[in-house]
Amino acid sequence: MKPPKPTSRPDKVSLWRYLKLFRKDLLSAQPQRLYRAWMAEFRTPFFRSYMINQPELVETVLKQRPDDFPKSGRISEGLRPLLGDSVFLTNGETWKRQRRIIDPAFEGGRLKDTFPAMLEAAQACVTRLKGQAGQVIECEEVTSHAAADVIFRTLFSVPIEHEVAAQVFEKFRAYQRQQPLLNLAAFIPVPKWVPRLHARNTRRNAQDIRALISGLIAERADLIATGQAPDDLATKIMTTPDPETGHCFGTQEMVDQVAIFFLAGHETSASALAWTLYLMALYPEWQEKLSAEADTLNDPSFSAVSRVKLSRDVFREALRLYPPVPMMVREATCPEQFRGRDIPKGAQIVISPWHLHRQERLWDRPDDFDPTRWSTENGKTCQRHAYIPFSAGPRVCTGAGFAMVEGPLLLSMLLRNFRFELVEDRTPVPVAHLTVRSKDGIWLRVVER
Ligand code: HEM
Repeated sequence: MKPPKPTSRPDKVSLWRYLKLFRKDLLSAQPQRLYRAWMAEFRTPFFRSYMINQPELVETVLKQRPDDFPKSGRISEGLRPLLGDSVFLTNGETWKRQRRIIDPAFEGGRLKDTFPAMLEAAQACVTRLKGQAGQVIECEEVTSHAAADVIFRTLFSVPIEHEVAAQVFEKFRAYQRQQPLLNLAAFIPVPKWVPRLHARNTRRNAQDIRALISGLIAERADLIATGQAPDDLATKIMTTPDPETGHCFGTQEMVDQVAIFFLAGHETSASALAWTLYLMALYPEWQEKLSAEADTLNDPSFSAVSRVKLSRDVFREALRLYPPVPMMVREATCPEQFRGRDIPKGAQIVISPWHLHRQERLWDRPDDFDPTRWSTENGKTCQRHAYIPFSAGPRVCTGAGFAMVEGPLLLSMLLRNFRFELVEDRTPVPVAHLTVRSKDGIWLRVVER
């Protein structure tokens, strides 16, 4: 049995139908041939965008000339009320300064410091799930809760049960449910007459979330001032001055950053973990191997994570098949020539981890689940050139190292304690929302070992 993949649309459809499909879901709106194309042009009377699906082109845009291809403002539209000037949305000098302050908090050595908090979150997840043993559960719910817990414990040293943390979590969920147009907006310069994305509810929700985060930050600023602050990510980021200007983040700018850490850090990991659990139920032989390997976590030190190698290979394969961020959009700031075609200034350049990870001309058996591929020649080459779940170049995900510890750790802890089994007639269908999710959730039976 192959891992679920959305059905592609027929090659030729009317523009109207295309837009309708798009609105429904980004993935099934695309034709099958994109999995073989190096590049595709979407030309309509309203907009022009280009999907690039060739490693050399992706390298040019993300790694060699990132300044010429800044983040597209269209993505920002829907997220701005919530994320303000967060590092996810800014460009140019502001973005560079923000990364200088944030990056040190995620450096290799710091990961070791955040590990105990991650482990506590994993243990708390196991305890919660014991209460549901024997039942059919919705996995995205479980992994969202766990990933949100990881973020709060590592950022602010509080668990998700903390009153403010729980409220932020709830309100973020409501916010995301109100963002259905995000996909469409990414590709189409939204004309002025289209009602703005930020409906009143969304705006109010964003304000509420920001007020809650502001409270946490004010409290933390007091603790820093009195020398009583815990040594977590929030303290590290709030006390790190920009090495070039000597300035730290102001309060508002810190609120922006915490909002993105929370959003980018829990949605993505939750999606990846839920798909991994589904794959484990689909391939029970792998599930058993991982469960046996997880016994090494008897010694739950940071170094134990380097020993759950199979878990990492499986998680990496899940990120290939179901990259949580399915597409990224950049804007051409000057006219370009790609593969002999003229790309006008202002064109939207779409980079699709979803399609690159399944590029039929590059990967052996691209639609198969095979965690052993990472030790083959083809797998190694593709990992270097055609594997970008965390993006690449200077704008690479700040949390990539963090996520590659968190994912395999949570996975190992869960499989050590539980077995996950398929439920009849509940095959999940991948759709692209803010991240790649299953259309009707991922339902599995959880059995205690
Ligand atoms: C499996 C988990 C994760 C995946 C697949 C993932 C993926 C990505 C991708 C693809 C981008 C680039 C988006 C773009 O350029 O449009 C990104 C950016 C970002 N991610 Fe992650 N991420 C994950 C976890 C995390 C975590 C745990 C954190 C923080 C705790 C985080 C923080 C960020 C931030 C701050 C950015 C913006 C970086 C910038 O634009 O300079 N991510 N992530």
